[in-house]
Amino acid sequence: MLEIKRPVSAPLSSDQVAGIQEVCRRFKQVKGGLLPALHQVQRLCGNWLPMEALQLVSRTMDVPYPYLYGVLSFYTMFSTQPRGKYIIRLCESPPCHVLGAEDMLAFLQRELGVQVGETTADGLFTLELTACLGVCEVAPAMQINEVVHGHLTPEKIRQVLADYRAGKAPDYTQVRRTTNPLSAYPPSPDETPLLQNVDQIDPMSIDDYLSRGGYEGLKKALTMTDEEVVNVVKESGLRGRGGAGFPTGLKWSFTRPLKVFPKFIICNADEGEPGTIKDRYIMEGDPHRVLEGMAIAGYAVGANFGYIYCRGEYYLSMHRLQNAIDQAMERGFLGDNILGSGFSFHIQLQTGGGSYVCGEETALINSIEGQRGYPRVKPPFPGTVGVWNKPTIVNNVESLSAVPEIIKKGAQWYKSKGTEDSAGTKIFQVVGHVNRPGIVECNMGLPLRQLIDHFGGGVRSGHRIKAVQPGGAACGFILPDQVDTPLEYAAMMKVEGAVGSGTMLVMDDTTCIVDVVKCLLYFFQHESCGFCLPCRRGTRVLYEMICKVADGTATQADLDRMLFLSKSMTESANCALGWSPYSFLKTTMERFPDEYAAHLAGHCPTGACQKHAQAAAH
Ligand SMILES: Cc1cc2nc3c(=O)[nH]c(=O)nc-3n(C[C@H](O)[C@H](O)[C@H](O)COP(=O)(O)O)c2cc1C
Ligand code: SF4
Ligand code: FES
Repeated sequence: MLEIKRPVSAPLSSDQVAGIQEVCRRFKQVKGGLLPALHQVQRLCGNWLPMEALQLVSRTMDVPYPYLYGVLSFYTMFSTQPRGKYIIRLCESPPCHVLGAEDMLAFLQRELGVQVGETTADGLFTLELTACLGVCEVAPAMQINEVVHGHLTPEKIRQVLADYRAGKAPDYTQVRRTTNPLSAYPPSPDETPLLQNVDQIDPMSIDDYLSRGGYEGLKKALTMTDEEVVNVVKESGLRGRGGAGFPTGLKWSFTRPLKVFPKFIICNADEGEPGTIKDRYIMEGDPHRVLEGMAIAGYAVGANFGYIYCRGEYYLSMHRLQNAIDQAMERGFLGDNILGSGFSFHIQLQTGGGSYVCGEETALINSIEGQRGYPRVKPPFPGTVGVWNKPTIVNNVESLSAVPEIIKKGAQWYKSKGTEDSAGTKIFQVVGHVNRPGIVECNMGLPLRQLIDHFGGGVRSGHRIKAVQPGGAACGFILPDQVDTPLEYAAMMKVEGAVGSGTMLVMDDTTCIVDVVKCLLYFFQHESCGFCLPCRRGTRVLYEMICKVADGTATQADLDRMLFLSKSMTESANCALGWSPYSFLKTTMERFPDEYAAHLAGHCPTGACQKHAQAAAH
């Protein structure tokens, strides 16, 4: 539920005043500098934004105070209330939920002696809940300031807290990877153009990237015409890997001929879809590949400027991307007149503020512009009217990262991988009740069963698969007898699943379907931006109704109403967030009728609903 919190007053030291003024003056010169400035000011003030700091930002950046408040209150990473030295953000999204996040919350509350939103008496820890942190392979997980702690157990939590209390907070820039190296997972049998460098090179070294053919794709593209580059990408069959699967080359072909300048490339690195961890592996392990893909895209459509919009929790990704941008500028792979070609391309890194809907391309554009992250009404689409109202290509990290090899090796090389319906390779993720949650890059068409059994190590011993939610939180549930479906767009659609971002949430027979649907609906009502009524109210009503189902007080008429309401949201909501609940409500009601019927009769077959109701009551 939205709470309107009045910012708290706290005097600023003279150092803080000087620091804030310096940050504001610097970011006032940068288009879209408001959010990055707020992140830095929050750091200077000790993890929160006192009223005095906001007033100073408002004056120095010439931003009206109500506008400033309106923007910052949209983003969960900003706080106008005092917080501790360390912010503990425990993930409550489905992949963590099915692996016991609620038990970890109860333990954290006991251990710290605080409730969610409170700070310990010594001022050390503030406890918060958060949507997916993008580290689902180590679920259940929490992030303390910049550092992720996964595979949580009570013993692990106790040890981590003891380390922080003893002043032993890890330095996030010194870890090799936020979670696991790729070697923690079984190797792919296929060629892996996207992940080929991850863990094989030093991601902080441009020389390492160059020694493995880095920037050869850009060099080749610069010898071709812009139209030729677009055509190669078109012919390759590459489809957007951010979720919707729109053909990448086709998207570029709409923007290339436009005579409206400047044009922009945006790399969507928001990665907020629960279960999705793939873009982080590329950005942390091979950041130059992302930059190279963006520069080629810029050349192809006539854009000279690019933004990377990276989710605020991905500190290591941002650290390595910024280093890569600086190195590429120094070596002439970015900047003015790249390699003497006459083509110029600059990249700016932008930080998100903890909002799932900002992954939606037009919400993301508004966020870059320093506004609340409301999705725009479409059309017009960003390809014609995007950031700063100019033609803008928005592509996912994985889509852009596929481009350098496609240009180097040709459309046919890429097309020869995968299937007739779905070309190329894709990074898949398997999370939830498997023995080895993780990621792998494979040719499209990999049978889902192989992803679960071979790469994921199968479901936990003594259990069987009950359901899989393929594609992400917005997608339908499939049954065990549908897991032989190949991971390609048409086949997955046929079973009312989706390739989506390539993540597969596996649930075994200990799972209560109603409980997971409740967790999903909680996520959607929390992340609804409130811009349009059908979703603002609809997601809330759906959540209230699933709570009734879970506590055994709903009727069949309530289920019918939920389906009707979610269906009408697909017809009336402004963006795909509001369209999402229908697919998992429809498929779970059709495919798990006995489970819903048991709840209507007041009985949760696994006991999960009673357990969670008791936990919430305490
Ligand atoms: C609520 C919502 C969240 C989204 N989150 C992401 C995201 O985190 N990353 C992403 O690439 N695309 C995300 N998308 C899809 C984008 O709107 C857009 O389709 C995508 O960035 C286009 O890139 P692609 O064609 O390369 O996939 C999201 C869409 C919606 C509706
Ligand atoms: S559908 Fe939901 S998230 Fe999308 S614009 Fe409407 S309220 Fe916002
Ligand atoms: S990190 Fe918890 S669901 Fe992704």
